[in-house]
Amino acid sequence: QLKGLIGPSILNADLSTLAEESRRLLNAGADYLHLDVMDGHFVPNLTIGHPVIKCLRKNIPNVYFDAHMMVSKPEQWIEEMAGAGVNQYTFHIESTTSDNIYDIIRKIKEADMKVGIGIKPKTDVKVLSDFINDIDVILIMTVEPGFGGQKFMNDMMDKIRWLRKNYPQLLHIEVDGGVNLKTIEDCAQAGANMIVSGSALIESKQANKDIEHMRQLIDE
Ligand code: DX5
Ligand code: ZN
Repeated sequence: QLKGLIGPSILNADLSTLAEESRRLLNAGADYLHLDVMDGHFVPNLTIGHPVIKCLRKNIPNVYFDAHMMVSKPEQWIEEMAGAGVNQYTFHIESTTSDNIYDIIRKIKEADMKVGIGIKPKTDVKVLSDFINDIDVILIMTVEPGFGGQKFMNDMMDKIRWLRKNYPQLLHIEVDGGVNLKTIEDCAQAGANMIVSGSALIESKQANKDIEHMRQLIDE
């Protein structure tokens, strides 16, 4: 049984106090930080990049940084992100071609980061079949990437069930988008173990209880 890991997304937090907000959620028991990187091209929004993450790393040592790269050229930022102290580099399959995907995976590994591949809601999970054994994490989007605070897409749970059934050796399945105390129940049942939660945790008045509760549901 895999341990549940809860990773707050700070996208909807007050970004002028990014380090404090991150520390607050880590002190409340969060296992890792999910950092949403957007380039205004792969998704219709802009957020932070490696310069900000590098500063955040100085303030927050020893915590697992999960960079969710919603960018059109994932091959472009691998070294910068590693240099900024990122531990997991998750790029989107929709931003690659069959020509460069193996290259990207190899470069991320060479930069000593864990490799994650994300898929958008409309992408068939079966496109991952060829890469599953080469990577560390599969990220199932349960909203269209680009914005926090959207509604959870329950029908994505079939993808998670399919992965757990066909690839029992696969360790980490991460869910991202609209996950709260209620919708996490579906994620837990389907077999996800890395849970990103943004607005639900940011807005919570009792983040410590909520994180504990979320982890229990996954570990059950
Ligand atoms: C969406 C991002 C998510 C999102 C999570 O593009 O990848 O990480 O911000 O936030 P909530 O939990 O509010 O949907
Ligand atoms: Zn994300």
